[in-house]
Amino acid sequence: MWQAKTISQVRASVGALRGKIALVPTMGALHQGHLSLMRSARELADHVVVSIFVNPTQFGPEEDFAQYPRTLDADLQKCQAAGVTGVFLPGVAEIYPENQMSCQLNVRGIADTLEGVIRPGHFSGVCRVVAKLLNIVHPDIACFGQKDLQQLRLIEAMARDLCMVTEIIGLPTLRESDGLAMSSRHVYLSKNQRQRAVGLYRALMIGKDMIEKEGVFNVQVIEKAMAQELGVYDLQIDYAVVRDGRNLDLMTLIEPHLTPHLALLVAAKLGDVRLIDNVLLSL
Ligand code: PAF
Repeated sequence: MWQAKTISQVRASVGALRGKIALVPTMGALHQGHLSLMRSARELADHVVVSIFVNPTQFGPEEDFAQYPRTLDADLQKCQAAGVTGVFLPGVAEIYPENQMSCQLNVRGIADTLEGVIRPGHFSGVCRVVAKLLNIVHPDIACFGQKDLQQLRLIEAMARDLCMVTEIIGLPTLRESDGLAMSSRHVYLSKNQRQRAVGLYRALMIGKDMIEKEGVFNVQVIEKAMAQELGVYDLQIDYAVVRDGRNLDLMTLIEPHLTPHLALLVAAKLGDVRLIDNVLLSL
């Protein structure tokens, strides 16, 4: 497995590969969720390239950029074991040279709701780094987890609008046995917080059952029940919403013939740790 630290190194290494190339962009602290992305990528392509870069431009001034877990040695071992062909490990100066003017990328609408409101500037940083990674590596496909659904929809929209040649692939969320979606931020949770964190999944299941089993189509009623369930686990709620699954547009009433694809999304804090999760439903 090769390691490339500069743009020219990664371009040369990727250029020497034959066959279909998948990129799995990550910020490291790799867990089973990332490994499952790599496995799926391997099934879809001949070579998997993983990027590990904790991207400063997607963290707000009050966020955990400095504290974000960095576990490079373990990450490299996991990539090797997962059959990854090469890893791109750029430093901040390689991606954001100081003497270069910066380009701002925004996907209107989808970036202006939910995470975009709570984390101003976050999605602009995500778009910028993902656009750079795709332009640097030129993969045939790039794989992203559905766990960050808003990010996934945003990247799909950006790639479509900018006529990028890379196909964006969204892959299902990997969950712990109690349903909690895997996340690099779980290392911050105390034992008690970890037990309460399952409330996010429980809230999603409450909403899903109301829609699928009870035929409740009033969005406000469903959102209230999801929020109540988050409260049962003493989670500090940022949002618990039902949206159009394709573009995360607001809705008040579920009309299956108009919006057959739904997304239920929740975000909540346990102490300083903020977790997000979602499920997609097709009616
Ligand atoms: O989902 C992530 O880990 C990051 O947002 C990404 C896509 C690697 C961009 O930094």
